[in-house]
Amino acid sequence: MVDELVEEALVWCSQHGLVVGDKNHPRSGKAPGVGLLHAPFSLLPMSFPRVYWDQALELAPLFNELVDRVSLDGEFLQQTLARTKQVDFFTRRLLDIHSEMMKLNKHENIRLGLTRSDYMVDGATNSLLQVELNTISTSSNGLACGVSELHRNLVRMHERDLGLEKASVMGNTAIAQHAEALARAWEEYNNQSAVVLVVVQAEERYMYDQYWITVAMKEIYPLSFAYGSLDKQKIHKKKLNKARVIINSEGELRPDGTLLVNGRPVAVVYFRAGYSPSDYPSETEWRARQLIERSSATKCPSISYHLVGTKKIQQELAKENVLERFLDNKTDIEKVRKCFAGLWSLEDDNVVMSAIESPELFVLKPQREGGGNNIYGDDLRNTLVRLRRYDSEELAAYILMQRIFPPASPCYLVREGVCARDNAVSEFGIFGAYLRNKDRVIINNQCGYLMRTKAASLNEGGVVTGYAFLNSIFLT
Ligand SMILES: Nc1ncnc2c1ncn2[C@@H]1O[C@H](COP(=O)(O)OP(=O)(O)O)[C@@H](O)[C@H]1O
Ligand SMILES: [Mg+2]
Repeated sequence: MVDELVEEALVWCSQHGLVVGDKNHPRSGKAPGVGLLHAPFSLLPMSFPRVYWDQALELAPLFNELVDRVSLDGEFLQQTLARTKQVDFFTRRLLDIHSEMMKLNKHENIRLGLTRSDYMVDGATNSLLQVELNTISTSSNGLACGVSELHRNLVRMHERDLGLEKASVMGNTAIAQHAEALARAWEEYNNQSAVVLVVVQAEERYMYDQYWITVAMKEIYPLSFAYGSLDKQKIHKKKLNKARVIINSEGELRPDGTLLVNGRPVAVVYFRAGYSPSDYPSETEWRARQLIERSSATKCPSISYHLVGTKKIQQELAKENVLERFLDNKTDIEKVRKCFAGLWSLEDDNVVMSAIESPELFVLKPQREGGGNNIYGDDLRNTLVRLRRYDSEELAAYILMQRIFPPASPCYLVREGVCARDNAVSEFGIFGAYLRNKDRVIINNQCGYLMRTKAASLNEGGVVTGYAFLNSIFLT
């Protein structure tokens, strides 16, 4: 039966856009429709306890609000990241743009956050612990919707054999809700001729995930779109031509702050790039980022929202009495704090020594996004020993986190057309959307979920990075 299901699932993926670019195909990240491969997926949905689902849903609007509150405290962001700034050039560049905006006294009236809070269930304590909070280029919203449709379809065809009902597979509203949030932000800008600018990487094998949301937006609202990339390498390509106005550093920003692309005002800039140093190969891309930030367009995310999502800020928020600075309601604070795993700065030498002794209980994290950057096991120990020996300032580039061990169970995982049974663990994310205009909160919601499953023997996760498989859930 497994073979039959795998074949059905593979056909379904191909026919319904549950696809990614094939890394073995040289043009797969550049040209749509070329070199496609099904996205890696779990053959069947997994059971997930309702208590954790309810808890994560309840937390989503609280984290949205927290991001917004923290983003308004420029001093807090600058101070918390001050030491990191000395040793991490990427954080420094982001902070430089941020402090320039502070000097200009720039305030964002319309603020849009498309977030995803990621969790793992800690097997030892049976608790839901946050892995991280994503505030920039929150991805997989498209593919996550696709995989729950895939599972619903498989279950519908094999209800009796699988002992599951189609309706029990949780549906996913991530795309519809994120598209709506972007469209509502566009409306708030209140200019019919304005466009939404989607900033993408010049080469993106995950482009189909991104197309889900832009296609959905066009269906919901008769908006206009412009695509842009921060990469000037492809400036002659159509995708980039449209963004040339913002890539060239002169004459693109009107004195009133209006950002123009191809002569049209930009209402919203949606970043699906810009989270990684490799997105800024030259000063041109930094100028583009800075220019966008100075403009009156709504940035998703603004530089402040971006900084709130850094690992260092996550660690600072977990310190005693810090949440109290930003949230008023005591019950809410308790709920948020309950999902924090152990997080430490490397200034705490006791913790550093514990991590050197038992590296398997910790994860060492630099200030990076996008997967594949964390340090584990022997590498973690060696890195800490080296940094400590030289009393290196570089310690401030990292944070330490308690390693979470989720319960493992056998799963059928399909990649490149091959299905393998493996002992697997999962990471569960809840998407969020937050939109406000001055004092008016227009949207503060949870927006569907992302379930990723990976072999229990692996350290890292992530679908794009090639470690994890998309999954969906049914509640128990
Ligand atoms: N504390 C942790 N315990 C166990 N695994 C973790 C922990 N933190 C991160 N990971 C694993 O590493 C992956 C990447 O870490 P994450 O903090 O999400 O960084 P990134 O911004 O690169 O996505 C996660 O998807 C997860 O699989
Ligand atoms: Mg992550």
